[in-house]
Amino acid sequence: MTSPSPHRTLPYYEDPSPGSGVLPPRAWVAESDAARLDLGGRWAFRLSPTAAGADESFAQPGHPVTGWDELPVPAHWVLHGHGAPAYTNTPYPFPLDPPRVPDENPTGDHRRVFDLPDGWPAEGGAVLRFEGVDSCAKVWLNGQELGSFKGSRLPHEFAVGALLRPRGNVLAVRVHQWSSGSYLEDQDQWWLPGIFREVTLVHCPPGAVGDFTVHASYDHADGTGTLRVEADVPGRVTVPELGLELATGESATVPVEPWTAETPRLYPAELVTPGERVRLRVGFRTVAVVDGILRVNGRRVLFRGVNRHEFHPEHGRAVDRATMRRDLLLMKRHNINAVRTSHYPPHPAFLDLCDELGLWVIDECDLETHGFHAVGWRGNPVDDERWTPALLDRAARTVERDKNHPSVIVWSLGNECGTGRGLTAMARWIRDRDPSRPLHYEGDRSCADTDLYSRMYAPHEEVELIGRRAEEPLDDPELDARRRAMPFLLCEYAHAMGNGPGGLSEYQRLFETYERCQGGFVWEWIDHGLARRTEDGRTYFAYGGDFGEDLHDGNFVCDGLLFPDRSPSPGLVEYKKVIEPVRIEGDGDTGALRITNAHDFTDLAHLAFGWEYAVDGAVVAAGDLAVPPLGPGETAGLKLPEPPAAAPAGEALWTVTARLARDTAWAEAGHPVAWAQLAHTARPHRRPVPAEPAASPRRDGAALLLGPGSFDPDSGVLTSLAGIPVGGPRLDVWRAPTDNDNGAPWQPDERWGPLWRKLGLHRMRHRTDAVRTTGRELVVSARVAPAATDLGLTVEYRWSAAGERLRLDVSVTPEGEWRCPLPRLGVRLTVPARCGTARWYGGGPGEAYPDTCAAARTGRWEMTVDALQTPYVRPQENGARAGVRWAQLTAPDGGGLRVEGSPHFWFTARRWSTEQLDAAEHTCDLVPSPDTVWVNLDHRQHGIGSQSCGPGVLPAHRLTAAPAVFSFTFSGQP
Ligand code: GAL
Repeated sequence: MTSPSPHRTLPYYEDPSPGSGVLPPRAWVAESDAARLDLGGRWAFRLSPTAAGADESFAQPGHPVTGWDELPVPAHWVLHGHGAPAYTNTPYPFPLDPPRVPDENPTGDHRRVFDLPDGWPAEGGAVLRFEGVDSCAKVWLNGQELGSFKGSRLPHEFAVGALLRPRGNVLAVRVHQWSSGSYLEDQDQWWLPGIFREVTLVHCPPGAVGDFTVHASYDHADGTGTLRVEADVPGRVTVPELGLELATGESATVPVEPWTAETPRLYPAELVTPGERVRLRVGFRTVAVVDGILRVNGRRVLFRGVNRHEFHPEHGRAVDRATMRRDLLLMKRHNINAVRTSHYPPHPAFLDLCDELGLWVIDECDLETHGFHAVGWRGNPVDDERWTPALLDRAARTVERDKNHPSVIVWSLGNECGTGRGLTAMARWIRDRDPSRPLHYEGDRSCADTDLYSRMYAPHEEVELIGRRAEEPLDDPELDARRRAMPFLLCEYAHAMGNGPGGLSEYQRLFETYERCQGGFVWEWIDHGLARRTEDGRTYFAYGGDFGEDLHDGNFVCDGLLFPDRSPSPGLVEYKKVIEPVRIEGDGDTGALRITNAHDFTDLAHLAFGWEYAVDGAVVAAGDLAVPPLGPGETAGLKLPEPPAAAPAGEALWTVTARLARDTAWAEAGHPVAWAQLAHTARPHRRPVPAEPAASPRRDGAALLLGPGSFDPDSGVLTSLAGIPVGGPRLDVWRAPTDNDNGAPWQPDERWGPLWRKLGLHRMRHRTDAVRTTGRELVVSARVAPAATDLGLTVEYRWSAAGERLRLDVSVTPEGEWRCPLPRLGVRLTVPARCGTARWYGGGPGEAYPDTCAAARTGRWEMTVDALQTPYVRPQENGARAGVRWAQLTAPDGGGLRVEGSPHFWFTARRWSTEQLDAAEHTCDLVPSPDTVWVNLDHRQHGIGSQSCGPGVLPAHRLTAAPAVFSFTFSGQP
């Protein structure tokens, strides 16, 4: 046997070059009068396990495809029954031996036969365009090899005019899952090979447009815009609304309305060359870093952003336009104003929608080499000259395709690649090609190649230091001075994995305090859970490891503000509230109101304000509120009306809401944008219910009775209440750890989830020390503690009754040295399954925890127990309602249980136990009990934080083990 020569030429899919035979990159054309043929549809498909073994004869026109399968294009073949998806965060699922890839290299041969449509022009050429193929393709048309390319999320074109025939064109595309390009595409997402974006045949008439660059700047000093369109092929540009008709290359300055994310003013225009008319949409705006602040049209902008991967639970990264639009509508409706296209350029149509609806975009190149971190960045392609052409190719394909979008205001080199000469080369190229936009890259703390200081997951204290330009210095004083003068943003923060993220309000306060801190981008927009069905037909979402991957990162792929089906998670509702662009503050007693316009550009004329006055959650009066059209950053002092005199006694709250006054492109008139509640404490609270005669405990056969309650005399445990069988309540400290409780393995901070479990908080033992009746009380003393430690909680339950009400006073004293916070502190009880409807007065409608409760609005709410659950893709603690004054669980016959809390409590009810919730790995593992509803009434909850990737729970939201007293009053349904 001879060993292969180490110098043999690498096959095209392994050689580190970007490819061969493709045309230079050019601007995306959304609409033109040139003919186009969408080649999407059913293609013939065959999958081979290796790249080398498959022969290329399939590309020949006469080759039979009998026995092949069919596959839709665009699509990922692993989502259509061929092979399986695989998820890793940073590890490459193949040996680090760049640029080589393993023999096991799933290779999909795609073949499609097409005719030119009738009327396809005979003159001119044609281009075959691929918007995205993962990860390397070789292409043939009518048996002729056109070339090959890498760069999965980037467009590639071939000139094919001379090869086309009117009928029976045979297009053959061989796609390799692994290539040298895979080393540059180690983004944290599913590995999904395939032709996942459109394939189009584009006619190029003689004199067609070619590449063109729209320069449309705005001078905020005099309100003029300057337009100049450069084009490879000379032509004319018309902007009818501005009365402009220019030659390409010529510039004109006229008064315009500028483009901003808040006012996405686009001027329809046309570029006309001798052969083609291309539709343009011109947005005038100027981006600049001035005095250490990133400004658009002269004004500081504040990013209320998200990181968006392209994802669909059934189609992976083959995302249709309706879904793109849905994403953007959801963003706009949740006050989000910015997107970082993590970590690759999105489908080009997405940027058209950003232009149209108004979003700031950080457009990121398709580049990440994070997995080299595991070997101390040895062999990192971004610091190896062999790869520089591929890196420059990626930079050029990004910039050239997307340069004409006003929404794109920052270029990003890529994500998590360490540092290297290749990145510097990319930065130079981009600066030279497009000096009109600042450059972003987070991976190099020195910021040598960038214009913005960017970090991910920096804790609040550090952001504050940076805000004060007082961060730790860099070793190099020159670089340090340069960086210290830069604007700051968090390109990723608030890891939205599972329940959370916590701590958003505190970040927002920093962004609004320090001019330098220009906001951030929550990680991330959507959970990448893939839809699957159980055998009995129930849908659930799969994550890493569910497809038999031997290397995977579990549910770390589900860390979005949207669930995979695009329903908003509580995290998104919280984010909307925290970033609302109007601040409403005041004093509900004096009626003094302060409204601040936190928009960057628009006044408040597009909003209509209203107030409501509610007593104990019932609205007793409402009206409109005249708010002047404050300019951005302005504040006005206003006065609430006089509180309605006739209202009953009770807890009184003003709610002030700002809503859209008119329909917009993204929401209808009436859509709520911002709100606040102010307590009117001066109104007398309802007088206490007239004291009923107190009852005393008495024996009745085997039971101990007290008021409406019946107890087990030995354990002192309540067994029924007003005729309803109950279990407990007993002290409870355990919650099914959230992803943020568990934290990420690399976190230096304390990670409480694993510690709680190690300590045994999930298997607390209860010991009853005494059951006593003392006059009118039943007193139960107990100790609740985990095994194998001397830590514990002593607890005293004091029961008393008056009339139909049964009161429980709980006092808890920790014993031993508790070095960790408690997950929760409260009582747990069970009630019959028929008590399936919850009503409560307190925070709602959605779940909330101590550091995720900005969006909890005090009111009266009603929901089924099933609807109280938040379906986190990996089940975990969820569903608590904050600040609850009273709650009822009602059966269809009207019977049920009511509980009032003093102080206010956290209310949770579910059809499975905490232990079942903790054990479940997917939502389909949770089977509702036919018998029982478990109810937690918590005095306190530990915060949520963001430690699944970011900082933990801030000190103010930790549940420190300390003596506590709290009480509940139970009764049957009134
Ligand atoms: C960042 C990375 C993202 C994602 C996130 C954690 O380090 O840039 O791609 O992996 O962490 O979900």
